[in-house]
Amino acid sequence: MAGLNIRSVLVTGSNRGIGLELVKQLVGKSNPPRWVFATCRNPEGTRGQELRELVSKHANLVMVKLDAVNPVSIQEAAKTVEAQLEDSGLNLLINNAGIFSNVTLETVDAEEMLGAYKTNVVGPMLVGQAFLPLLKKAAQTSAQKGLSCSKAAIVNISSVLGSVALVPETFFKPVISYRCSKAVPLTLGTSSLHHRAAISACSHPRGAAHSVLFPGARQLLLWRKEHSHGLLSQAVRPQAALNMLTRSQALSYMKDGILCAALHPGWVQTDMGTREADLTVEESIRGILTVLSALSEKHSGSFLNWAGKTLPW
Ligand SMILES: NC(=O)c1ccc[n+]([C@@H]2O[C@H](COP(=O)([O-])OP(=O)(O)OC[C@H]3O[C@@H](n4cnc5c(N)ncnc54)[C@H](OP(=O)(O)O)[C@@H]3O)[C@@H](O)[C@H]2O)c1
Repeated sequence: MAGLNIRSVLVTGSNRGIGLELVKQLVGKSNPPRWVFATCRNPEGTRGQELRELVSKHANLVMVKLDAVNPVSIQEAAKTVEAQLEDSGLNLLINNAGIFSNVTLETVDAEEMLGAYKTNVVGPMLVGQAFLPLLKKAAQTSAQKGLSCSKAAIVNISSVLGSVALVPETFFKPVISYRCSKAVPLTLGTSSLHHRAAISACSHPRGAAHSVLFPGARQLLLWRKEHSHGLLSQAVRPQAALNMLTRSQALSYMKDGILCAALHPGWVQTDMGTREADLTVEESIRGILTVLSALSEKHSGSFLNWAGKTLPW
């Protein structure tokens, strides 16, 4: 873990669960960052108690209010962090805040779907936008070659439940709104299988039924059409889900020296993961920090798990 030499890191949703443990292990490192920004939506609330106690013991840990569904709150958090960092940039942004509902295709409704998208997709996108100038500054002032989390990176905490390829293995837990918000219906990459599926979905006589199965098909074809003329449509990004967002960020920000990756933390014993989960939060975060320390240029745009294994989109 000594390989992760970051001066500054920000974690969203860090008052409990995975976010809180990330912050704990970061400040407990033998070479801790100069600044750890632990953001949460309600710093004064009862759920912030454990984080407040941690902050009182560590001078390098700063609690910042950030509600991932509130653009004003995100902008204010970015200003607070910028003021604290003075002339330096932010090395690592970890988009961890997320919500989960145990709904099936039978029970999910529009409000639930939109709520999950707002927190799990729009939130990370807005946070990424707001902190981009500070990430760029970190990349520009770094002497390091290539990409790394020690230089400048956005890490989106995703879920294996968002992997389209692994749906048959994971569908024992339908959790439709969560799964779709973390998922990428079709990647912008080179998956010819998905491309063929998209084409067949769009050209199939029962197109409407197929676009339910492949909701990103039309956007993908549009994107490909525009891209082939050199016009990368930024407009598709806000409609796409977290894994798609990560791939898009990786492509867009590579030129700025910013690494972007999606990480599945494993099934973890938190309020969200429940006590039935496989991993303790300590085990998951130890793994994640080891993975972060090893990420390089070749991992940008990848989807990895807590043990460093590449997952299919
Ligand atoms: N646990 C697992 O097994 C598992 C597996 C795969 C992926 N993940 C992902 O890992 C991340 C963390 O999960 P967890 O298990 O730690 O969940 P958790 O115990 O339920 O904690 C969720 C965190 O997100 C925060 N949050 C929710 N909505 C927010 C908003 N609008 N603005 C700011 N913060 C918000 C919560 O804050 P409040 O206290 O204010 O609600 C809390 O700090 C999530 O993205 C989740 O999808 C978890």
